[in-house]
Amino acid sequence: MNEELKKKYWERYLRLKHKGVKFYPDVVYKDLVVSFALFLLLVGLAAFVGVKPEPPVDPNDTSYIPRPEWYFLFLFEFLKFIPGELEWVGATVIPGLAILVLLLLPFLDKNPHRHWSKRKVGTGVMTAIVLAMVGLTIRAVVTTPPQEEGPVALSLPEQIALGQELYSIHCAECHGPDGEGGEIQGVEGLEGVVLKPINSQDEMYTRSDQTLYNIIAYGQQDLGMPPFGRAYGGELGPAEIKAIVTFMRYTWDDRVELPAEAQGGGMPTLGPDEVPSYEEHVEPLVKRYCVSCHRPGKKNNNYLMTSYDEVMHSGDHAPVIIPGDPDNSILIQLIQRHELDFSRPMPPTKALPDDVVDIFVRWVAAGAPQTAAEADQIEAQQGGGAAPATPQP
Ligand code: HEC
Ligand code: HEC
Repeated sequence: MNEELKKKYWERYLRLKHKGVKFYPDVVYKDLVVSFALFLLLVGLAAFVGVKPEPPVDPNDTSYIPRPEWYFLFLFEFLKFIPGELEWVGATVIPGLAILVLLLLPFLDKNPHRHWSKRKVGTGVMTAIVLAMVGLTIRAVVTTPPQEEGPVALSLPEQIALGQELYSIHCAECHGPDGEGGEIQGVEGLEGVVLKPINSQDEMYTRSDQTLYNIIAYGQQDLGMPPFGRAYGGELGPAEIKAIVTFMRYTWDDRVELPAEAQGGGMPTLGPDEVPSYEEHVEPLVKRYCVSCHRPGKKNNNYLMTSYDEVMHSGDHAPVIIPGDPDNSILIQLIQRHELDFSRPMPPTKALPDDVVDIFVRWVAAGAPQTAAEADQIEAQQGGGAAPATPQP
């Protein structure tokens, strides 16, 4: 700094000091006002906005995704770029150096100017750091997987129903719709492998709920069963795995009594002259016997069965259902175990029970109605005994 500039600053300093405000009480008073306002803001936020509650701590819950508070997320994200064995460098050395530089800043930076445009280096470096922190924070938020929903209190019958549905979707393709096992067909990589039943006394009496839970969560990868727990790269959270275990226990273990409310649930019944509808009769069957393979990401000739539209219109050989013409509908031919040149009988592993095939056939024959109301209409048109207005010859 040259002498002239130094003198100028010195004069300016004396001038300011002379007519300036006192630290006590003026500045202290201002500080008090601002900190009181901030305090009120905090109280207001706590009272009216609050913090989103998280479920109580559960040491068994391996799916919990721990994250630091938002103001430390940038450091957390920064650590992800540093290889594991050097973590201490990222966690202590680098932030420590950054703080040291801040402390030494008055000695390092002797630029006499105060306006930012005359402090290009300092402004540039600080802007870059702030941008990096903001960027890292955003990246951390975006890459954090959604936290498992808090435990939803399901009643026992609801848990069993949920477990049944999840079992049909995730397990039936290999273990069969009722855990009966047998030869796997139509599953890539396990074609022809024979599984022993998992619904037997042998299995149920020797495996505790915790063991079943662990088998489902970790899988048995050396034997070909994939892990299902989200913490191990699968699709299911703890509550869902528990529901499957509950379903298995209450349905397959003959020592456990199924609660009365849960009995008869699930599979629909159909009267002899009743017209089945998709929503009431066919969808539960599709969920139980077909969706495990006929959903996205599986080998299935692109025939998806997760909605009415897909059931009616998707597939490499669409339409596989011709309303009113079951004999020429590919889907019916396949579940009646005809072999077609592009597909095995369906489901590949084991024939459907006769009454289930019957529901599919009657549904297609009646025109494949979607809703119960549509089915009722068709039933009325078909006449039957139920339509008194029909003139009798
Ligand atoms: C991709 C095929 C596949 C899927 C899907 C699958 N498993 Fe398995 N599972 C296997 C194989 C293979 C084994 C090992 C079989 C053996 O030891 O006989 C196995 C083993 C098991 C066992 C232990 C059998 C024993 O006593 O050793 C249980 C219980 C089980 N599976 C339950 C499930 C449940 C519940 C699901 C659904 C969440 C499921 N599996 C999904 C292939 C699968
Ligand atoms: C274990 C897996 C699995 C299950 C369960 C299963 N499918 Fe399939 N499905 C397949 C595969 C794989 C194909 C492709 C053809 C083949 O490989 O034989 C297929 C093909 C089809 C096709 C032919 C689609 C087209 O356009 O070519 C129809 C229709 C079909 N399945 C209906 C059903 C129905 C209905 C059910 C339930 C009752 C069912 N599938 C259950 C695996 C399965």
